[in-house]
Amino acid sequence: MRRLTVPRIRARKADGVTAEPLVMLTAYTARQAQLLDAHCDLLLVGDSLGQVIYGLPSTIPVTLEMMANHGAAVVRGSYHSVVVVDMPFGSYESSPNQAFENAASLLKQTGAAAVKLEGGAAMAPTVEFLNQRGIPVMGHVGLTPQAVNVLGGYGARGRSDAEADKIVSDAIALDRAGAFAIVIEGVVEPIAIAATKAVSCPTIGIGASAKCDGQVLVTEDMLGMFERVPRFVKRYEDIAAVIDRTVARYAEEVRTRAFPGEDQTYQPKD
Ligand code: KIV
Ligand code: NA
Repeated sequence: MRRLTVPRIRARKADGVTAEPLVMLTAYTARQAQLLDAHCDLLLVGDSLGQVIYGLPSTIPVTLEMMANHGAAVVRGSYHSVVVVDMPFGSYESSPNQAFENAASLLKQTGAAAVKLEGGAAMAPTVEFLNQRGIPVMGHVGLTPQAVNVLGGYGARGRSDAEADKIVSDAIALDRAGAFAIVIEGVVEPIAIAATKAVSCPTIGIGASAKCDGQVLVTEDMLGMFERVPRFVKRYEDIAAVIDRTVARYAEEVRTRAFPGEDQTYQPKD
């Protein structure tokens, strides 16, 4: 199986409709990527790794170095999905040139196919600049976590008419600039529908209803490995409970000298 390409992802929305929704999950490590790869169309090395992996309070402190290291690991662990790396806060906003330098460096260091950056119309010139120079860009509108200090929190967006109009016009601006797909996060369903209809590229929803052209979740949230999750997360498993049970057994067996047993012990005559 050859790796999917950005144009093939883009082409999944033909004549305004996506027959089979795109499947995307976050991945931060090689082993995680191996486990997810065959089931997904896209793997996102999200800057959510700031909270999930590094225990940071938001995505604001995430660095290019973190994204490069985890991005390289995910590319090494996958062979099928398109790998998209998030551009961290402060690495792309000041100019298209700054964005190109840092995005090029991320692609060189990781082997990923594309970057994702947050923001709407204000970022459209940057999206166009990168795309015209060989770097496909995934957009991200609605609830944009890097703007938490402006938004004032992580609540759903698009409840006022002004906010709703801005989300749709942001998506249109990114689409016209050549974004190959757009993440729509934390918006009310009618706005997700309006944005999805208004753009030619696929939309990928997270907390944005079933009407987007694809879906993404943070893998740890979906597996039940992260403690605080938004309402839009469906917990498909409770892996934290499995880990807790399993580690409790290990600790008990070490303390009672039940582990290691014969099978795990080398003898001179083996
Ligand atoms: O960083 C991330 O995980 C994301 C997705 C939730 C879309 O941007
Ligand atoms: Na992100």
